[in-house]
Amino acid sequence: MKFPSLWEGASLKTLLLFSAIFLILASYLQRRRRHPNSPPGPFRLPLLGNTFHMDVKKPHISLQETVKKYGNIFSLELLGSPVVVVTGLPLIKEVLVNQGHVFIDRPHTPLRSYIFKTFGLIMSNGQEWKDQRRFTLMTLRNFGLGKRTLELRIQEEATCLTEAIKEEKGQPFDPHFPINNAISNVICSVTFGNRFEYHDSQFRELLKILDEVIVLQTRWECQLFEIFPWIMKYLPGAHKKLFREMKKLESFVLDIIRQHKENLNSEEAHDFIDAYLKELSKYSGNVSPSFNEDNLVSCTLDLFFAGTETTSSTLRWALLYMASYPEIQGKIQDEIDRVIGQSRLPTMADKENMPYTNAAIHDVQRMGNILPFNVPRMARVDTTVAGYHVPKGALLVTNLTALHRDPKEWATPDTFNPEHFLENGQFKKRESFLPFSAGKRICLGEQLARAELFIFFTCLLQRFTFQAPPDTQLSLDFRIGLTLSPVSYKICALPRETQPKLGP
Ligand code: HEM
Ligand SMILES: *[C@@H]1O[C@H](CO)[C@@H](O)[C@H](O)[C@H]1NC(C)=O
Repeated sequence: MKFPSLWEGASLKTLLLFSAIFLILASYLQRRRRHPNSPPGPFRLPLLGNTFHMDVKKPHISLQETVKKYGNIFSLELLGSPVVVVTGLPLIKEVLVNQGHVFIDRPHTPLRSYIFKTFGLIMSNGQEWKDQRRFTLMTLRNFGLGKRTLELRIQEEATCLTEAIKEEKGQPFDPHFPINNAISNVICSVTFGNRFEYHDSQFRELLKILDEVIVLQTRWECQLFEIFPWIMKYLPGAHKKLFREMKKLESFVLDIIRQHKENLNSEEAHDFIDAYLKELSKYSGNVSPSFNEDNLVSCTLDLFFAGTETTSSTLRWALLYMASYPEIQGKIQDEIDRVIGQSRLPTMADKENMPYTNAAIHDVQRMGNILPFNVPRMARVDTTVAGYHVPKGALLVTNLTALHRDPKEWATPDTFNPEHFLENGQFKKRESFLPFSAGKRICLGEQLARAELFIFFTCLLQRFTFQAPPDTQLSLDFRIGLTLSPVSYKICALPRETQPKLGP
């Protein structure tokens, strides 16, 4: 039914009556859900709960008073669901690791289920999730994750990126799309079997869509969709645009899958899609509960999605911090010159000999804090956390910002400082650093992301010195979306003098 006809048909009286019944029912349901031993929390409005207590412009640092008042575990009602917010390393480890089997599921909120479906890697649950995750990890390993093959691929791509940046000739440029494209190419090579040129207009369009999808999620129409999907479905707005853009990403993936089906070679799988199609053919005739086309499409989209924005925005943060802290940039370049020099590409084996560079990358991730609330989990059964009752179905949020900015843990919590990860000149692991989360559902791409960050970052600093454009103050402000990314910026990449070889 179209929106105007729905509303034109209803008289004001019917509407009011309907709303009143609805509100009463909703607050009844809500009260029924509250357990006497629930974690404490602020007063909630019927239906809307604490939705408007969140500051949408800086959600990760809103509710500060609430945290102060109620401590390391409190409950809210957001977008119609009970939410438990957990702060501090001991409790975060309790929920993600010790009770990892309880908080293993993803919540299926209306918006997220509509966009990501409930298939694939990020959103699926139960046996289906287990099977997809195991298969994907195995396939990534077969295609060279943790081996020399994938490292070579990253090095090649980093070289392409440095070439593209060289063409800017030290003039101010926005590194957003070149970096996005380079990072995306690594996961595209593994999943689709090919990379895309930086000036490929079709792929550029796709990356733009991806970027838009990430920001559109935060629009109020999308938040309303989470609470009133059955109404918002009929209304125009940002959520509709989001659905349209998501469809475009999906049809791009569908098209690539179709091409793979046409060219499928029974001997050899060249990439993730090939490998998945082969797995599917094992079940031809009898259906597998887990391996099906819906999951193929969603897994592929999830890898593309999760593998692009996260690593790309981390690298964009890294360049910003380099330009903002020239002395630190200089120290990293000294280490690069000492350990690698100018005549060969960085490899993963160099990391061990480069504690300062490694520490700098870690502190970029700590400061960038790109997933401030982790990715939400859900309790699959009733449980008890810190003595409080947490009901089955409650959404679990772990506050990674609090961990990454904890003044008790970090010498300069709000300032970029590689020393946080150093001790006597050696790299020091820190427990209060969980950008990839922890437990059984930890980021599936952690190893890949770490390899990409190390090689891309060192390649870039080997070739260039990053600087603010003349008379410009670079901003370290963030843009809110599915991730916290830097607001768009221009930067200068000055080619470094290659050291003339001294000798006879
Ligand atoms: C700096 C880069 C990255 C960061 C900070 C990051 C962070 C995260 C976090 C916090 C989660 C949620 C884990 C949880 O629920 O406990 C996650 C999940 C995931 N990440 Fe990453 N990620 C990054 C890069 C990547 C890359 C390159 C890939 C590509 C393979 C990837 C694929 C995934 C997938 C598929 C999931 C869902 C896992 C599941 O639900 O089982 N990520 N990531
Ligand atoms: C998360 O932690 C940050 C930093 O301590 C704090 O400002 C914010 O209020 C916290 N948010 C929630 C929802 O716990």
